[in-house]
Amino acid sequence: MDSECIYLDYHATTPLDERVRSVMEPYFVEYFGNPASALHRYGWKAQAAVTTARRKVAELIGATDSQEIIFTSGATESVNTAIKGVALARGSGHIVTVKTEHSAVLDTCRWLEHRGFQVTYLDVDSEGFIDIAQLEHVLRPDTIVVSVMHANNEVGTIQNIAAVGALCRERGILFHTDATQAVGKVPFNVADSNVDLASFTAHKFYGPKGCGVLYVRKCMPRIHLEPLLHGGGHEFGLRSGTLNVPGIVGLAAALEIACHERIEETQRLSQLRQILWSALRQSYPNAVINGPDPEKQPNHRLPGNLNVSFPGIPAERLIGFLDSVAVSTVSACGSGEHKVSHVLEAMNVGRERAESAIRIGIGRFTTPDDITRVAEYFRVALDKAAPRVVSMS
Ligand SMILES: Cc1ncc(COP(=O)(O)O)c(C=O)c1O
Repeated sequence: MDSECIYLDYHATTPLDERVRSVMEPYFVEYFGNPASALHRYGWKAQAAVTTARRKVAELIGATDSQEIIFTSGATESVNTAIKGVALARGSGHIVTVKTEHSAVLDTCRWLEHRGFQVTYLDVDSEGFIDIAQLEHVLRPDTIVVSVMHANNEVGTIQNIAAVGALCRERGILFHTDATQAVGKVPFNVADSNVDLASFTAHKFYGPKGCGVLYVRKCMPRIHLEPLLHGGGHEFGLRSGTLNVPGIVGLAAALEIACHERIEETQRLSQLRQILWSALRQSYPNAVINGPDPEKQPNHRLPGNLNVSFPGIPAERLIGFLDSVAVSTVSACGSGEHKVSHVLEAMNVGRERAESAIRIGIGRFTTPDDITRVAEYFRVALDKAAPRVVSMS
């Protein structure tokens, strides 16, 4: 990693873990076969690796059958396949989702709206939680799918997806969850959560980019999805295209490591977050946290997530003084147009808070020393960026 710049943007992506890289390596050159080549040992070797990875992923997320795991190019493709797949297979109907979803879900829903589907976008409260009673209220006899993300990528809010799943199952409505930020970080079990469809991607849990999963529950009657890609009929007819074998092997290895280390890692990340948050508050007493209070509701927020507003300092201005830290902001003021996070807007935190919000993502390779240094970088940057009070004498 770049020693000049401390990486705290783990929600955007994570570096490949060396342990994962070493497992993937032989599949680039030595075992390069196409798993669809059924007539020779090159193909058999690749096919065996994919089968093992599929079984491992199924087991780690509580799927009952490895054929419920569909490998894709990432979460965006998985989400599109799930939501468009259901909608296009049904032909018409009503979809429910949430205002704070990732654009992969929101843009897919908007695309479907333009094609005659009706979509309800649920509100959230000031911490980003949906209201199950509101969800129950908006469900209709023609609702075909409900899509609620497991954990939010900006403010870390963890929704009660088991409650959403139970309600959908009771009504016979399909439930999709975008579990991209949750998998490997918080407990995720498709059976316990009554999930029918789930999307996630390897690069959020120290696996490779370009490889994701769509979980499709095997049930009777079968969940019918219209595939987005047509061709060789790979992935049980749901996703044609030659499989990314190194990526699939890496995804399974990364998921296994993340699940095995999850409990200790949760504790470690929560502690680092607490140290940083205390330091930021000390440097800027008006700083305010966006999303669930990590001290009061630790189980309802992603352990490595910190989203802080520094009212009075536009995020872009503060970032300008923070060139040794890689963090993120959605707030932007380009060509005179102010853009703020749709998540913070839906949470009704107010314009000033939304415009000054910075997302900090702490992860596997963040050390206590990094946190100390980042706290100091913020202290200096806040001092430079803070509006000066000019005394009139
Ligand atoms: C919650 C969520 N869903 C979907 C995605 C899309 O993932 P990808 O760009 O890897 O397809 C992301 C990526 O940031 C995400 O955070």
